Amino acid sequence: MTSQPQESVPSHVCIIMDGNGRWAKKRLMPRGYGHRQGVETTRRAVEFFAAAGIKHLTLFAFSSENWNRPDEEVTGLMELFMQSLQKYTNELHEKGIRIRFIGNRAMFSEALQQKISETEVITGNNSVMTLNIAANYGGQWDIVNAARALAGQVSEGEITPAQIDEQVFRQELSLGDSPDPDLFIRTGGEHRISNFLLWQLAYAEFYFCDRLWPDFSDSDMRDALTEYTQRQRRYGKTGEQIEAAN
Ligand code: IPE
Ligand code: IPE
Ligand code: MG
Repeated sequence: MTSQPQESVPSHVCIIMDGNGRWAKKRLMPRGYGHRQGVETTRRAVEFFAAAGIKHLTLFAFSSENWNRPDEEVTGLMELFMQSLQKYTNELHEKGIRIRFIGNRAMFSEALQQKISETEVITGNNSVMTLNIAANYGGQWDIVNAARALAGQVSEGEITPAQIDEQVFRQELSLGDSPDPDLFIRTGGEHRISNFLLWQLAYAEFYFCDRLWPDFSDSDMRDALTEYTQRQRRYGKTGEQIEAAN
């Protein structure tokens, strides 16, 4: 089997948008101020990556562990999600962006769940880029969910345990219909996955950046894409094999 030549533009980029709290703290402001500024960066990032030809962008907005934050911060974040959807859905729709949510939405308020579904329906046929927003998402939750779904299919006699392989399993995961992320970006200086897309990141290129999310500029985004083009993706092969195929 020959290798595919390295694509210079990733088809799927995912981002852990980290550092809002520290950004606000540096300015002696409450953490919510950083989150509001973070929404502005999110808006710029969506525009930037869509213009760069990225077909799938997945953003970590709220993890299943973020419920452990102070009540005031959690409440503020829920309000900010609602406001951001009200404010930006039309604009994104006009740009041809399809918006989807991944994560356990059942824990959100009825009103927010309704807004989320409405956004997905309104933008559902757009094809410029798919924007996946991970909200109350956890990679372990995702894998357990898939395992539970498959166990259900086995107990209904729809499949046998022997039929469960990587291909069957991945289809039950969030983003099972999308290519796995090629490029993972984390801002804010921490070098960890924090329970983001555990399965889907199996072969992503990791790019860590010290910049706090509200400060993450277009030129920082460009640097991440440039760095990606310089990586050699080997998928277990040798560098010589990859060079010979290209
Ligand atoms: C990321 O920024 C946003 C969310 C987790 C919602 P943080 O709020 O984690 O910012 P830091 O890491 O405390 O600076
Ligand atoms: C990860 O950031 C989650 C999001 C960006 C939404 P955190 O700031 O919550 O991650 P940890 O707790 O530092 O690992
Ligand atoms: Mg953080």
